[in-house]
Amino acid sequence: MASIVRRNKFSINAKTSIVGLLGYPVEHSSSPLFQNRAIEAMGINTAYLAFSVKPEDFEEAFKGLIALGAVGANFTVPHKQSAYKLCDECSPQARMMQAVNTVKFKDGKAYGYNTDAYGIKASINEQGYKFTGVKIAVIGAGGVARAIVTQAVLDGASEIYVVNRTVPKAEGLISSVLDNCEKLDEKDKPNFIPPCHAVGYDKIGDALSGAGILINATSVGLKETDAMLFDSKFIEPATFVYDTIYNPSQTRLLIEAKQRGCRKTSNGLTMLLYQGAKAFEIWFDRTAPVELMRQQLMQPRAFL
Ligand code: ATR
Repeated sequence: MASIVRRNKFSINAKTSIVGLLGYPVEHSSSPLFQNRAIEAMGINTAYLAFSVKPEDFEEAFKGLIALGAVGANFTVPHKQSAYKLCDECSPQARMMQAVNTVKFKDGKAYGYNTDAYGIKASINEQGYKFTGVKIAVIGAGGVARAIVTQAVLDGASEIYVVNRTVPKAEGLISSVLDNCEKLDEKDKPNFIPPCHAVGYDKIGDALSGAGILINATSVGLKETDAMLFDSKFIEPATFVYDTIYNPSQTRLLIEAKQRGCRKTSNGLTMLLYQGAKAFEIWFDRTAPVELMRQQLMQPRAFL
C-alpha cells in the first residue's frame, strides 16, 4: 500500500524512480512528508513511498525494490534487523547495531547504513555538544538506545552507562555493540573503547554523577501522564538532558531537568530530522535541504 504524494514540480512520469519506506505499521510515519518535500525542492524525479509490509513478506519486498530499480529505501520497526541481513555491505554503525534503516541500491547490490546513529550525533552537535571525552548516561536498552551507544563508542565517549528496568537487556546491548565493534575493519575501529556499565534504576546516581549528557531512549514520556522513571534529584545542573521523544515536545523529564537547574535540554525532533537528511544524502549524493525538512517536520500535521 503506497501513500499518496502530491507533487508540484514534476508529475509522476515514466522516468520517476522510487525510494521505499518499509515498516509494519508505517502509516504513522512523518518521513514521506519531509522526504518528498526535500525531493521536490531539489528537483529530483523520485517519489518516496511508504509500504506496510508484513515481516513474512519482507525479503520478497526488499528484493522487489531491487528488481524495480529503486534508488533505495528506509526501514522502520520491525524490519531493521532483517534489512541488515539482506545487505551486501554495511557501514560501521549498521554493523555495530546489526540493524539497517537506510539502504542504497547500486548495480544490483544493497549498501546498508544506520542513519539513526548519525541523527543523534548531529542533533546533539547542533546544541553544541558531542560525545567525545564525555560521560554518557542512556536510559533504555531498545533500538534507539543501541544507536546512541554505538555512536558514543565510535565518537570516543569517556564512559557509558546504560540504565534499564531489565538489566540483562542492557548487558546484552553493551556486549553486542562492543563485540560487533571488535569485528569492524581496523580502519573503522575507534582508538579507545570506553568503560560501559549496564545498571538498573537503583544505580541511577552512579550513572548520572558527572554525566555530561543524559539521554532518554525509552518510550516513557510519550504520554503526558507518564511518571518519571527515576528521581530527578539525581540530575546535575551541568548535564545536558536530551529526550528522544519529540511529541510531546516537553516531556516530564525535560520539565524536571529544567526545574533542577539544567540550562540545556532538548527533545528528539532534530534526531529524526538528521537521520532523514543523512539518508537523503546517501540516496542522492547531494546536500540535503535541512532547513526545509525542518520546517516541514515542525508543522503539526507532520505528527499525524
Ligand atoms: P525502541 O526500539 O524504540 O528503543 P523498545 O525496543 O521497545 O523500543 O525499547 C523500549 C525501552 O523502553 C526499553 O528499554 C524498555 O525497558 P525494558 O527493556 O525493561 O522493557 C523501556 N520501557 C518501556 N516502558 C517502560 C516502563 N514503563 N518502565 C521502564 N522502562 C520502560
